[in-house]
Parts: sequence; structure tokens; C-alpha cells
Amino acid sequence: MHYKLALIGFGNVARALARLFIRKHDLLKQQGITFSFTGISTGSHGFAVNPNGLDIQKALELVESGKDISSLNNSQFPIPDSLAVIRHSSADVMFENSPVNTQTGQPALDHIRTALNLGMHAITANKGPVVHGYRELTALAKSKGKCFGFESTVLGGAPVFSVYREAFPLAELTSIKGIFNATTNVILTLMENGEAYDDAVKYAQSIGLAETDPTNDVDGWDAAIKVAALVTVLMDTPMTPQQVNPTGIRGITPEMIAKAKAEGKRYKLVCSAEKVGDKVEASVAPQLVDSTSPLYGMMNSSTGVTFRTDVILDYSITLSEKPGMKGGPVETAYGLFADFVNAVKK
Ligand SMILES: NC(=O)c1ccc[n+]([C@@H]2O[C@H](COP(=O)([O-])OP(=O)(O)OC[C@H]3O[C@@H](n4cnc5c(N)ncnc54)[C@H](OP(=O)(O)O)[C@@H]3O)[C@@H](O)[C@H]2O)c1
Repeated sequence: MHYKLALIGFGNVARALARLFIRKHDLLKQQGITFSFTGISTGSHGFAVNPNGLDIQKALELVESGKDISSLNNSQFPIPDSLAVIRHSSADVMFENSPVNTQTGQPALDHIRTALNLGMHAITANKGPVVHGYRELTALAKSKGKCFGFESTVLGGAPVFSVYREAFPLAELTSIKGIFNATTNVILTLMENGEAYDDAVKYAQSIGLAETDPTNDVDGWDAAIKVAALVTVLMDTPMTPQQVNPTGIRGITPEMIAKAKAEGKRYKLVCSAEKVGDKVEASVAPQLVDSTSPLYGMMNSSTGVTFRTDVILDYSITLSEKPGMKGGPVETAYGLFADFVNAVKK
């Protein structure tokens, strides 16, 4: 079966995904799956649609040399925006990888609604539409017999949602705890090794982990939206990052870190959610942990989550630190790719 693919957002993750598709071409073919890219949209590098298949290598080259991709467009319709790319790409699968909007989930919500309404599978690494549209988008996908996939949104591509949903039927999830943000974990590790906060942030930026504006990470919003996504999906309780109301790591001083170290403890940006009666209480805040905590040994860019259920007490998934502490577009791309393979095999 041949699948036409549309890439909405063509940044680090979507380009890693395109390369992964190219690399897995032969393996996919052995499974009876072939593909072509028929639509690409960006924020400031133009739009391109070709229902007969775009030259994806050329698109990668153009964007990576800072150029516009519009020269690849040969649609007979005007393509002024991402929604037009989705509509005119004739795609079977739309990958949504535009920047996250923690406040409203837009424009990703509209991209996914449009794709599902047109009968496409919609797969995303963007946490915005999960926390702001999970129930609606899941119901829409079901009514169309398509998939709304978002495995990549938490723990950058390591399977979390699918593992829990497949392996824990009818278990009651009572709490979630973990470290969900690699950037702050790297900064705290460096501070423990004597670096100043500002230098640690600069280092995280220099290896491509922290963004130019690190606010989203250091103030806890990236972690908060991940907690909200897990609670929304796995505890069936809609939650926004605003409800998590995170506290970040800016208030942690070298003196606090030295005192903790002397006591055999360390600070971690701990993410947690717990069922209390009918409600879920969630938080993101720096906490002191000691060597009895599974979080204590998670250093540098390592992240992980522990699920507590009414039957199996503590079940943990850990993503170990990456060499050079780099960020994870390739791992994130794999989560999208896995969602694709699972969607088309269903
Ligand atoms: N990086 C990771 O390891 C990682 C991990 C987990 C989840 N995610 C999520 O994955 C998504 C993509 O991340 P990324 O690292 O690839 O980001 P990125 O490198 O900043 O790429 C974002 C892409 O979206 C485009 N874009 C901007 N506004 C758009 C709009 N309104 N419509 C369509 N496209 C638009 C950008 O185009 P221009 O460059 O032309 O502006 C760029 O191609 C985000 O939601 C992020 O939170 C990323």
C-alpha cells in the first residue's frame, strides 16, 4: 500500500522524521508499505504541495541552507497557508510538528481537525493539541476510522502512552511521578558540578538542548504540559499546564545545591500527579531527593516516569542520558514513525 505524507512544520523533528523514512525505506517495503511526501509547510520557509510526490532531499537541502521551499510547489491551487497544504496534498497521513502553544494548542489543533475531517491519520509530537483537544480529537479520529497519534509528546519518542494503555488493562492509575524535562536536569547536574546557573543555561543552549529563550524549560512549562498530557490521557481527567501551575528552577542557588550535596541529597525538577478522591492533584516543582529515590540517579539528559497503579505498585520507564547530552529530534521522530507504522497496520 502506498501512503502520501504531509509534513506540517518542517523543523528539527520533521526533518529527522523525513530522514528516518528514507533510512527505513527498504524495511517498510518489505512490509508492503511505500510512501511519498506530498505536502510540506513551514512558518517562514514557504509551502509546497505536489500530489505526485515532492523531492524530499531537495526540500531538506533548501530549508537547511535557509532557503524557501516554494520552488518545489506545483499545486494547481493557491497554497497560502498550512491548512491549504493539508487540503491539497491528497495525503493519507498528516504529521503535525509546528511549535507548541501551551496556552491554546493552536494552530496545531486546527491542523489536526482539518486532517482528520479529510480522512487522514493525524500524528503529532506537539503537546498543545493533546492537552487542549484530546477528547475531541480522539472522538473525531474514531468517527473517521483513523488514528490520532501522539506517542512522541512525552519522553521524546520513548513509548509511554502505548505501553501503559496496552499493558495495564483495567488497572487504576493512582499516581505518576518523574523527571520530564531534560534541559533542567542538565542544568541542575552542571550546577551540582560547580557551574553557575547562567553558564549551565548557556551550555544547554550550545548543545541544542535549550532554546534561545529557555523560559519554557527553566520555568517548568514544558514539564507542566507533559504532566497535563499524561493526566488528560491516562487518568481521563482533562488538565491544562496552567492548572499544573509549575515552579521552575530559577530559585535554586549554588548554596542550596552545596547544602543538599553535603546531606547526600540533590535537587530535581519533580513532576507528579496523584488521584485524591475524584480529583487529580498535579505539580511541577524542584524537590530534594535522596539516594532512596529512583529519581536520584537520573542525571544529565536522562528522563523517566514511574506509574503507580492499584495492582502493580511502581512501574518505571527511563530514557537514559544521550551521549553529548544532545536533544532528541531523532528519538522524537521515531515515536512519530512508530505511530505511523501502528496506524497503517491497524
Ligand atoms: N525537539 C525535540 O526533541 C522535541 C521533543 C518532543 C516534542 N517536540 C515537539 O515537536 C514539535 C516540533 O519541534 P521542533 O524541535 O522540530 O521545532 P522547530 O525546529 O522549531 O520546528 C518548528 C517547525 O514548525 C514551523 N512552523 C512555525 N510556525 C508554523 C505554523 N504556524 N504552521 C506550520 N509550521 C510552522 C517552523 O517553520 P520556520 O522554521 O520556517 O519558522 C519549523 O519548520 C514541537 O511542538 C515540539 O514541542 C520536540
